[in-house]
Amino acid sequence: MTDPRWDAVDRYASELLVRPPEALDAALHTAEAAGLPAISVSAPQGKLLMLLAQSVGARRVLEIGTLAGYSAIWLARALPPEGSLVTLEVEPRHASVARENIARAGFSAVVDLRLGPALDTLRSMAAAGTLPFDLIFIDADKPSYPEYLPLALMLSRVGTLIIADNVVRKGAVVDSESGDERVQGVRRFNEIVARSPRLDATLLQTVGSKGYDGFTLARVVS
Ligand code: SAH
Ligand code: DHB
Ligand code: MG
Repeated sequence: MTDPRWDAVDRYASELLVRPPEALDAALHTAEAAGLPAISVSAPQGKLLMLLAQSVGARRVLEIGTLAGYSAIWLARALPPEGSLVTLEVEPRHASVARENIARAGFSAVVDLRLGPALDTLRSMAAAGTLPFDLIFIDADKPSYPEYLPLALMLSRVGTLIIADNVVRKGAVVDSESGDERVQGVRRFNEIVARSPRLDATLLQTVGSKGYDGFTLARVVS
């Protein structure tokens, strides 16, 4: 399911409005050269993450799923000089490409990349009483999204914005019978968001260079 206009409009938006700096294009080239999967957020989506982080005045950002550091660099661009971004990655090869990309973009001092299974890192951060984050971007393995959410909530305060990528999956999210564990993961995630009295949320479908997918956006209200 794709339409050539989706890619054309993403390119139009990127050239006219998004205008990614060189280091972000370079990060994608490095990722491709290293054979990493081409599943980073698109440039317009990355810019959206940056603008949302700036709009909530984020000083502390948490990302679950670093890959090559592309979305991390967009988010880091939103931070004030004393801000910080913690990003979690399980694949050493992804982490090393990301470190290189983050360094080239000039953000090594604000980005803390933690290697290991995100569930373990999240549990130790929660146990250590880590200061709450202002924005949390969930974008790692989809079957684990339902487990990431309660930990994200433990690392939140009132006003924290939680954003989850890939929650529509070409529309498969409405298929309760889906045999795809990624679809079932994002379905359960959305149901937990819906049931949480601490969250007020929406879901936005997106089309673009990455096809048909979407984001869940949830604000922590209590
Ligand atoms: N946010 C990135 C894309 C992330 S792709 C961007 O838009 O630029 C998802 C990443 O999550 C992959 O790099 C994958 O290795 C990582 N991942 C998968 N399972 C994980 C786990 N259990 N813990 C931490 N990272 C994980
Ligand atoms: C996949 C993962 C992503 O985070 C994404 O944005 C697109 C695709 C995947 O695992 O296929
Ligand atoms: Mg994603």
